[in-house]
Amino acid sequence: MFNFNLLAAVTVAVAVQGTLGVAVYGQCGGKGYTGSTVCDSGSVCTFSNDYYSQCLPGSGGTTAPATTGSPTTTASPSTGTSLNSKFQSHGKKFWGAAMDPGTLSIAASTTILKREFGGVSPENSMKWDATESTRGKFTFSTADQLVSFAQQNNMFVRGHTLLWHNQLPNWVSSIGDRTTLTSVIQTHASTVAGHFKGKIYAWDVVNEMFNDDSTGSVRTSVFSKLMGTDFVAVAFQAAKSADPAAIRYINDYNLEYSAAKRNSLIALVNKVNAANPGLIQGIGTQSHLSAGGGSSVKAALTAMAAAGVDVAITELDIRGASSNDYVTVVKACLSEPKCVSITTWGLSDKNSWIQGVSGGVLLWDDQYKPKAAYSAVMAAL
Ligand code: XIL
Repeated sequence: MFNFNLLAAVTVAVAVQGTLGVAVYGQCGGKGYTGSTVCDSGSVCTFSNDYYSQCLPGSGGTTAPATTGSPTTTASPSTGTSLNSKFQSHGKKFWGAAMDPGTLSIAASTTILKREFGGVSPENSMKWDATESTRGKFTFSTADQLVSFAQQNNMFVRGHTLLWHNQLPNWVSSIGDRTTLTSVIQTHASTVAGHFKGKIYAWDVVNEMFNDDSTGSVRTSVFSKLMGTDFVAVAFQAAKSADPAAIRYINDYNLEYSAAKRNSLIALVNKVNAANPGLIQGIGTQSHLSAGGGSSVKAALTAMAAAGVDVAITELDIRGASSNDYVTVVKACLSEPKCVSITTWGLSDKNSWIQGVSGGVLLWDDQYKPKAAYSAVMAAL
């Protein structure tokens, strides 16, 4: 089981680093780095690569070694040098990837996943059609495989998703009355969240409930037709009762591009939380971006964080995958204290849900080779 308490302690330690020196797991050296090179007592500045030295536990209070040359302390291969560990060194929780047993069975992909990533999201296996295709009959075997993998490899899991208008079985869409639908949502959300209780870092409880129109109106679905927006609190309450420790997110796309959509979502979060304090705890921005879209992320994260909840980049991919766009997104999350995680929607272009885009959309190419954007992100971290 992942030790969330330890990680929280580390995160706090990083967050409260004072003027004396760099806290454990903080950056203490590397090309372009201008901060303190002195580690807090109890940690030692350890060379990872030319771009990055990190304060790792040990006897110390030392200064950074030269940015080239041999490490003074040999870090284990998984410490300080992966995408995830570099991201965590800035006080972030994890860098994840959307996966499922299908992609986990590709050795080249899983090798990279284990080396570079700290979390997974089920690309499809926890959706309503996968978990309750027939009313009251629940299937968890596929998602269980992913969750077991995550546990064995000390990875966080973002649960995705308890309520969404897509990949929704017909038996749900054809419900005709509010009482039945309310009970169906409660049963679905509490059974799925309950099955994975204690194993999920955060749930996307509600996904994509707003339109992309000029007012950010509520999307027409069986949920909104019968319940207005009341389905939101029903689903969040059910998730909370079933697994109170999993952080509850509302998730949507184009929040970077559409201020109307973003404002509607933020207004809904504020309304639900005014009636039920703390019910919605996070806003997930999918961030399926177009080329050049990286520049719109920072302002969106800041606006969403102002709702007093965590924010996360939950499904990142960028058409054309330019280094500049990826670096801009990463820096946007680093600069927003409430931005806790980045998840890319997959790992390699080969297995992405978006195909046929020149330059691809992710950080590894069709051959599972790291792309220029990967190197640029690593350098930026
Ligand atoms: C996508 C999956 O990647 C595909 O495999 C599937 O065919 C369709 O769904 N927004 C979401 C994700 O919230 O669940 C979607 O995932 C991508 C868009």
